[in-house]
Amino acid sequence: MSNSLDIKWPMSLGSPAGSLEAKLPRPKDIGTEIPDPQRYFCKDFMQKEWELLWPKVWLLAGVTPDIKEPGDFITHRHGHEEFLIVRHEDNKIRSFYNVCPHRGKRVCQIEQGNVPKFSCPFHGWQFLTDGSLASITDEETYDADLIAHRPGLTEIRCETIGGLIFINMDGNAPPLREWIGLPEGYIENYEIEKMNVIRHVRTEWLANWKTGVDAFYESYHLPHIHPQTQGVMEDFVQVDLYPNGFSRMIVPIGVKSHRVEDQETIDPYQTFMMMEAGIDADGFKGSAKDVRVAIQKAKRERGLKFGLNFYDNLTDGQLTDSWATGFFPNVQIGMHPEGVFLMRFVPHATDPERFYYDTMTMFRYVNDPSYTVPGWMGLPEGMDVTGSIRPEIEHFSADMDANLGEVLNQDVDLIASVQQGVRSRGFNGPLWCEQEDRIRHLHREIDRYINQDK
Ligand SMILES: [Fe+2]
Repeated sequence: MSNSLDIKWPMSLGSPAGSLEAKLPRPKDIGTEIPDPQRYFCKDFMQKEWELLWPKVWLLAGVTPDIKEPGDFITHRHGHEEFLIVRHEDNKIRSFYNVCPHRGKRVCQIEQGNVPKFSCPFHGWQFLTDGSLASITDEETYDADLIAHRPGLTEIRCETIGGLIFINMDGNAPPLREWIGLPEGYIENYEIEKMNVIRHVRTEWLANWKTGVDAFYESYHLPHIHPQTQGVMEDFVQVDLYPNGFSRMIVPIGVKSHRVEDQETIDPYQTFMMMEAGIDADGFKGSAKDVRVAIQKAKRERGLKFGLNFYDNLTDGQLTDSWATGFFPNVQIGMHPEGVFLMRFVPHATDPERFYYDTMTMFRYVNDPSYTVPGWMGLPEGMDVTGSIRPEIEHFSADMDANLGEVLNQDVDLIASVQQGVRSRGFNGPLWCEQEDRIRHLHREIDRYINQDK
């Protein structure tokens, strides 16, 4: 066994071109611009995003395992808009504004469920799950011309890729597959459609949504804000920039950071990860440098044992590492074979200095006591992980402790404090280094929308 990682910047896992894991060349025109920090707090910029960005991009509205049966629906709130995402009897997934065409009341009051029809609580108008009008209360009291078009719910575009449901308010956006900057198979190989949401938390944070995304788009801050990760995670990550503002960082896991002097002694969290993968940690003969590869081997064998055939499409690296994947503009998904951690940075309806950190933990259940939920999911005790119960969304306002776990709690404090600083007269705009290329790539794409080049 040996450590297959060669740690230096720029970081590359060394996979051959053509592999989904291969390091992409850094774009020559990445630039060195310093954007005006007003984008992080100014209401005018927020308004431009509402007019020029949000309607034109595909928004991650949910995941297909949440709406398996006809009549199943979920809602997604984004700023002042709320959307219904519904599976109809024809099995097609559709999306609508959650707005009654009569007087504008929110038609559906609950966040998820199953209904034969939607019934507006204001005056009892009813709609089928394909959005069409089912009935108008006291229809004879209407001038027939006024309702001749049989007003139903206003539908918007809705498409899926690999278990992820996206919606788009704009009629002219390219199809989802064209718009998604990731190569084919990238998402699909994880079989997210066979996972279940086992926890869904929506927390209000005191910052602009981009201040939030920026902090999660780099690992440069790990040794400083999250020093406890150094025993089990490399902070020199492989950064790859894809078309249309998409990006990835591969975070090698199971290794000690190159900043740690002792690369021999096994870290207690490495031991924990070996045990999770079914390795007899007490009998393990290797050093800290050998742990990542040992875990990959153990997981490969475990995949065979449990018939997890999709592992055939994953590299050894994917069995341990986090492929933190940025979906333009406001989503990052931490992708792992056992499950994925989806985070949406959702703008507040009116305040540019607040956003919702909306996270879903998804897990692929394997019915065997030796196969447990990975520790990184930070799941509170006693939660159902089989997928038989779709948990309610846990909502937390900014002054509540959402119990997100140690690392995320560190980020809550960090991001609020960064927000305070970026709106200072003394701050002249972010100075991004190569480790922060994903942030630069994101903001350059945002600017293309704001400047109406897209
Ligand atoms: Fe962080």
